[in-house]
Amino acid sequence: MKPVKVGICGLGTVGGGTFNVLTTNAKNIARRAGREIIVAQIGTRRPNSDCDTRNIPMTSDIFEVAKNPDIDVVVELIGGYEVARELVMTAIEHGKHVVTANKALIAEHGEEIFALAEAKGVSVMYEAGVAGGIPIIKALREGLAANRINWLAGIINGTGNFILTEMRDKGRDFNDVLQEAQQLGYAEADPTFDVEGIDAAHKLTILASIAYGIPLQFARCYTEGISKITQDDVEYAEELGYRIKHLGVSRQTEKGIDLRVHPTLIPEARPIAKVDGVLNAVMVNGNAVGDTLYVGAGAGAGPTASAVVADIIDLARTLEADAAARVNHLAYNEIENEQVLP
Ligand code: HSE
Repeated sequence: MKPVKVGICGLGTVGGGTFNVLTTNAKNIARRAGREIIVAQIGTRRPNSDCDTRNIPMTSDIFEVAKNPDIDVVVELIGGYEVARELVMTAIEHGKHVVTANKALIAEHGEEIFALAEAKGVSVMYEAGVAGGIPIIKALREGLAANRINWLAGIINGTGNFILTEMRDKGRDFNDVLQEAQQLGYAEADPTFDVEGIDAAHKLTILASIAYGIPLQFARCYTEGISKITQDDVEYAEELGYRIKHLGVSRQTEKGIDLRVHPTLIPEARPIAKVDGVLNAVMVNGNAVGDTLYVGAGAGAGPTASAVVADIIDLARTLEADAAARVNHLAYNEIENEQVLP
């Protein structure tokens, strides 16, 4: 079979990680995908010193990648809203499949993007957008596909969990830890997204849309971050046998779907209370399977790249299949209350 040609847009933490995973693990990836996966072009204004891109065609114009007739899959890793949206729409218009780690883009513009993708018969994949290296979207779509999902809850922002853990274990200052999270490549370009709960709300919106088969309704998610948590709060919680964790929670109720993100007191004996540092954890309750728990790194180059490349491999496996055989992001379930509660 002929190779799949990938164009990577953005060579920062996640773009660089994706390039390195694709090149370092190329043989295994080709075996699993059933064909070679080649980086045919990279669009970036800033080279990444961690990446050996000497033999790769480079351009500073990401739209050149989106329109390149030689490319099958455009990987959007530039982040942000407007330019990323335009890039993804251009790629789809040009018949490319898209893989993105951009949860803000999917949570807020996903419906428009999916509609165009459906019309053009291409796929948009975004496993890396939620919970970093944990394959939670694949778990919901595939492993738990037989279930009615009753609820899901989890720690879905690595930066926030890292901050709360360091405050508790080492008594460190909130802003110091946030700075370190930025240096480590965990935080969003605008870190208020992490500490005010917006990033977690984007991710919860996406998880709920898949779990319950509902349209993306970010605006209906109650959103509260960790920026008001003090060292005293963390210490008092500890004294009383609790941990403060920032959770995203969604439940199916008789009146509709409840979506909320906020700090929560969790008894220290609960497994999720022990999920520390940049780790994320998602619990899902399905009516057949009962409780399930998924844990793994929620941010950083390697874990996020792992999810990006998994999506590329999925696409490579089904590229020549009928569009309907690919993951259908618009396959909404018929449920009684598809509205998220206001
Ligand atoms: N800023 C995000 C986090 C990156 O800390 O979880 C991964 O989505």
